[in-house]
Amino acid sequence: MNDLSKLEQEIFEKFSLIKTKENLESLKVETLGKKGSVSKLFQELATIDKEKKKEFASRLNILKAKILDELSKYTLKFEQYELQKKLESQTIDITLPVPKITQGKIHPVSQVIDELTCIFAELGFSVAEGPDVENEYNNFTALNTPPNHPARDMHDTFYLDEAKQLLLRTHTSPVQIRTMLNEKPPYKIIAPGRTYRCDSDQTHTPMFHQLEGLYVDKNVTMADLRGSLDYFLKKFFEVDKIKMRFRPSHFPFTEPSAEVDIGYEIKDGKITIGEGDKWLEILGCGMVHPNVLINAKVDPKKYQGYAFGVGIDRLAMLKYGINDLRSFFESDVRWLEHFGFNSNDVPTNYRGLAR
Ligand code: DAH
Repeated sequence: MNDLSKLEQEIFEKFSLIKTKENLESLKVETLGKKGSVSKLFQELATIDKEKKKEFASRLNILKAKILDELSKYTLKFEQYELQKKLESQTIDITLPVPKITQGKIHPVSQVIDELTCIFAELGFSVAEGPDVENEYNNFTALNTPPNHPARDMHDTFYLDEAKQLLLRTHTSPVQIRTMLNEKPPYKIIAPGRTYRCDSDQTHTPMFHQLEGLYVDKNVTMADLRGSLDYFLKKFFEVDKIKMRFRPSHFPFTEPSAEVDIGYEIKDGKITIGEGDKWLEILGCGMVHPNVLINAKVDPKKYQGYAFGVGIDRLAMLKYGINDLRSFFESDVRWLEHFGFNSNDVPTNYRGLAR
């Protein structure tokens, strides 16, 4: 009997000395393991005479329960300690500045498309799209440019088949046709995208980008066109005033047609857009030709509107001081690192377009 109290005392003394999980594990084996001190006593029960057996067994069970209880207390203690250590090692100091992620930049063309989308969204334009591979009808004929029309020669078209029915679109204007054929008037869309012409030098690449604009409703006038272009150019170049002139021109799909120039000056090698006595051609525009409306199944007696087309790459070059158009498409990461934009600085009207 006393042996049992002694054993209990010994075991609990050992408990108090436990420092590690391993210590705990060995104490468990030492006491309740197959050959453990307590397990052995359980085995000896068979040899004890009946009267004593009951009391001894009950004391033994109590001791076993106490040991199990102590073991689980220690196990919990170790688990909590480990969790605490893990949490401490994983703490993040949220007051520290966020590390600057410099990898990956937004290409100036993407940036300018985002900027233009913001500006025109403010005027109520939504974005329309069309495919790069177009048919001859949408790219030319429907746009009042029938076969043998001289304007076709100026486009240096990449044809994709012998019959010249499929081509890489030479401008974004076919999106006008697609939009009008697919939806009901009024139309107020911009269509940014890739365009193709067989041409290459410092200011021309076989693939380049345009933004088409189309606004057709019952009372749209040339004054609306001028107002919208004035707003767009001021917002885009981030200036309060912009000198702008409409020069009579010709496009088959507009009548009357105009080319728009903006004023600029170069001082100390720096270009200032919006003022000065030099003129820079920036876009083509006009009132949508009635034939185009008819081809697009819109009644020209009820509807009229304006259209414009502007070179996106050229806008990017002017705004961000990039000289060679070809560099846009060379995929040189050093160039992109220099001229690209941070992916977190999404252009918005309220926070500013480019930062
Ligand atoms: N599509 C013309 C081009 O690529 C640009 C253009 C001029 C578009 C006048 C228009 C427009 O919508 O009205 O040269």
